[in-house]
Amino acid sequence: AGAVEGDLVEVLFTEKQIVDRLAELAAEVDRDYEGKDLVIVGVLRGAVMVMADLARALDRHVEMDWMAVSSYGSGTKSSGVVRILKDLDSDISGRHVLIVDEIIDTGLTLSWLTSNLSSRGPASVEILTLLRKPEALQMPVDVKYVGWDIPNEFVVGYGLDYRERYRNLRDIGTLAPHVYS
Ligand code: PRP
Ligand code: MG
Repeated sequence: AGAVEGDLVEVLFTEKQIVDRLAELAAEVDRDYEGKDLVIVGVLRGAVMVMADLARALDRHVEMDWMAVSSYGSGTKSSGVVRILKDLDSDISGRHVLIVDEIIDTGLTLSWLTSNLSSRGPASVEILTLLRKPEALQMPVDVKYVGWDIPNEFVVGYGLDYRERYRNLRDIGTLAPHVYS
């Protein structure tokens, strides 16, 4: 294990498992959106890795756009209020939109984002997430594509951070307790 990987206590998904699963989801997306204009929207910053691997697994033209959102208040998401830090560059009216994120935790981010993008007159808005924590959900989120459902544990790697570290891990895993102390 390298200097960063050594902080993981358990690897939940390896780089290969992740890329293989995204290839399966990409094949579904290829099939479902055949002949349709598609924009995939990555949610900065966590979704960068998923976007990169998903987009390269797609066998079609696709536009890649990005949004950055943040919660109001004291850093918690409990208010459910979200503000846009960086909006889409493109007009999505009349187009098919697939929001891409690496994890759905409480569901607040994607619940808000879905309704925000839906108000712009797109042909459709759907969600793809690599991970989902069913036990942590506070808002109903209608997800079209999910890589894996996972227990309500804190995970890092492949875009997921702990205090802005570990996003650059190739695998996804749980942190060793010594990291927190
Ligand atoms: C994380 C993660 C998801 C969101 C999920 O992003 O990347 O976007 O939280 O949590 P939720 O379902 O409870 O809303 P975060 O806002 O921490 O920013 P980041 O992507 O820059 O890490
Ligand atoms: Mg995020």
